[in-house]
Amino acid sequence: MDIEKLEQMYEGKAKKVFRTNDPDLCWIEYKDDATAFDGKKKGTIGNKGILNNRISAHFFNLLESKGVQTHFVKQVNDREQIVRAVKIIMVEVVVRNIAAGSLSKRIGLPEGTMLPRSVLEFYYKDDALGDPLINDYHIQALDLATPEQIKVMSETALKVNEILRDYLRDKKIDLIDFKLEFGVYKGEVILADEISPDTCRFWDIETKEKLDKDRFRRDLGNVEEAYREVLKRLTGETI
Ligand code: TMP
Ligand code: ASP
Repeated sequence: MDIEKLEQMYEGKAKKVFRTNDPDLCWIEYKDDATAFDGKKKGTIGNKGILNNRISAHFFNLLESKGVQTHFVKQVNDREQIVRAVKIIMVEVVVRNIAAGSLSKRIGLPEGTMLPRSVLEFYYKDDALGDPLINDYHIQALDLATPEQIKVMSETALKVNEILRDYLRDKKIDLIDFKLEFGVYKGEVILADEISPDTCRFWDIETKEKLDKDRFRRDLGNVEEAYREVLKRLTGETI
């Protein structure tokens, strides 16, 4: 059966989600819109939709090849991909290898400090509350996920970290930290959303130059160039 794109179900900050003629599948369109600080800062990054669609597809293919179950089915064109229709768990799972961003602010470790052990954090996905840091007790208090689901998310996030960190090292990129989202598909917790310079911190391994959305958040300039550089290092492609 040919998969057909039907009406829009939802528009997020970086992507639109459409129904398809198969209830198990959704059609996703990556936008150039960029936001930061829970939507308070708004802008666009040229060609971001195209770049993140490709980068995310590349990472999901890599993870699938290493046995991680994801929502990714296939890339259909420059800006669009087909994914499994999951029910998103409203928890953002962050893994950190090197201190940066909100961790540096919260606990005072200077940006760039190597963490002796990867740090795993949960945030409540709620812009109105400013995506607060939560723990597994809070997750159960809010009934966001069961203890078994929390265990799957935590173990998968740490496995994804190992896979991506090793892979990126070969591409001369340090994986500083990243955010994952999970969804429930046919009773199973699988990796969803995207993995891109919007959702990760990537630093050049030698120069420590930022190759991610911090260039937009902090007005560092050359934002699109940084995203292009990531795609080039991953796949050799230029767009
Ligand atoms: P943080 O240091 O601001 O908490 O960010 C940690 C990681 O999570 C970083 O790689 C950027 C990513 N992230 C998102 O993908 N979405 C968000 O809303 C935030 C705050 C961070
Ligand atoms: N994407 C998030 C927002 O707009 C924040 C971020 O990535 O910094 O709120």
